[in-house]
Amino acid sequence: MPRLVVVSNRVGIPDGGTRAGGLEVAIRPALKRRGGVWFGWSGKITDDDPGPPKTTVQDNVSYVTVGMRRDDHDEFYNGFANRVLWPILHYRLDLAEFSRRDLGGYIRVNEYFARNLESLLRPDDVVWVHDYHLIPLARALRERGHKNKIGFFIHIPCPPPEILTALPNHERLMPALGHYDLIGLQTETDAANMCRYFENECHVRRTGDGVYDFGGRSVRIGVYPVGVETEPFARLAQRAIETAFVREVLDSLSGRAMIIGVDRLDYSKGIPERLNAFERFLTNFPDLRGKATYLQITPRSRTGIPEYADIARVVGETVGRINGRFGEASWTPLRYINKAHSRTALAGLYRAARVGLVTPLRDGMNLVAKEYVAAQNPEDPGVLVLSRFAGAAHECTAALLVNPYDSEGVGAAINRALSMPLAERRERHAQNFRMLAKNDLAQWAGRFLSTLEQDASRSAVRLIPRTAIGH
Ligand code: F6P
Repeated sequence: MPRLVVVSNRVGIPDGGTRAGGLEVAIRPALKRRGGVWFGWSGKITDDDPGPPKTTVQDNVSYVTVGMRRDDHDEFYNGFANRVLWPILHYRLDLAEFSRRDLGGYIRVNEYFARNLESLLRPDDVVWVHDYHLIPLARALRERGHKNKIGFFIHIPCPPPEILTALPNHERLMPALGHYDLIGLQTETDAANMCRYFENECHVRRTGDGVYDFGGRSVRIGVYPVGVETEPFARLAQRAIETAFVREVLDSLSGRAMIIGVDRLDYSKGIPERLNAFERFLTNFPDLRGKATYLQITPRSRTGIPEYADIARVVGETVGRINGRFGEASWTPLRYINKAHSRTALAGLYRAARVGLVTPLRDGMNLVAKEYVAAQNPEDPGVLVLSRFAGAAHECTAALLVNPYDSEGVGAAINRALSMPLAERRERHAQNFRMLAKNDLAQWAGRFLSTLEQDASRSAVRLIPRTAIGH
């Protein structure tokens, strides 16, 4: 089997610590299973030359990381990637920083990654690139003569061309995708949007379902909804609920039901809207006041970006307002925590929570939703309240699906979740769990890589039909 080289901006260097986002949750186990190399940014910012890559080997994976110069980090990570691409791909034209139209730093860091990969890559390696930070990486590698199979997976949404074309310099950037062999997206909607962009804006010839001819190169588009390690996570949660930490949290609730939300502090996650919904719930269902406590775990994220400082302020103020308005000396309705928690702690808390609140305004997939389902006790499961705008809503159709902008509706869903009879909870959970067991993380990586490794000259790959993921 050819060696697998994964490339992403963020690398999950093993330190036994906490996790920052979905990408790491997905890649680490997938890579551990097959072995290979994980290349990317070390997380370090330097004022001088960052020096050569550093390698850490653990089990069968080599983690190879490079530092980033401050100006590169500013223009690439704090700039084009997270102030232009991130908001626009999440349908938030209102938050995009259009003066950051300069692609210079973004391209420079992609070139820098490609340069550092040069000495590492063997001709038969299969390269799997992840996420919006690295759209032009395949082009930079091809320009250096690499003919490897290169796949690209986009963890976040792909909006329709009507929105994507608002991206400054999209016509220079997006055609670089034509240097990949396979492009994977989370949902059929994302894939259809990408196909439409290729057809309308790149004017490339469609040679089959989801297959395009970019000047003689065949580029395939497919749907690969990222999964979680469903069964192992369920076992972890079963053990984790017995840990001293989770026991202590449960004891502190004095028998009240727990509602849980776990998100990076990001405007795409709809946290202020969710807090407002909790407030509507407390207002509209006074009998349930004092009967449930909402725990919101929200590690800070991208702190160098003004829009993230804004959201941090709004969330802090909203939490204070709700606790001030409804709190009692003996009950705090909302516990808001910025500290990141370990995988084990989260698994135990999910299992202990009667309601999982996952209400992003827009999300590629959202693995918290899937882990919450996986963690439940099937005999007495909690209820997932899930945004219809999360990729996970395509699979977790038995969740209480909500419009995250509608605080009355989400407030009513919280009430319904807390009052749901056991039989209905079991039925909904079983349906969601079956789906997640069928399309778990191993399936996701296996399907993507086997398609990528197929002979490109073979017949066109169809978009994965809904039936293949259980619809
Ligand atoms: O899924 C989007 C993503 O950018 C992932 O790459 C990462 O897991 C997560 O968000 C966290 O973002 P950052 O790497 O900017 O902290």
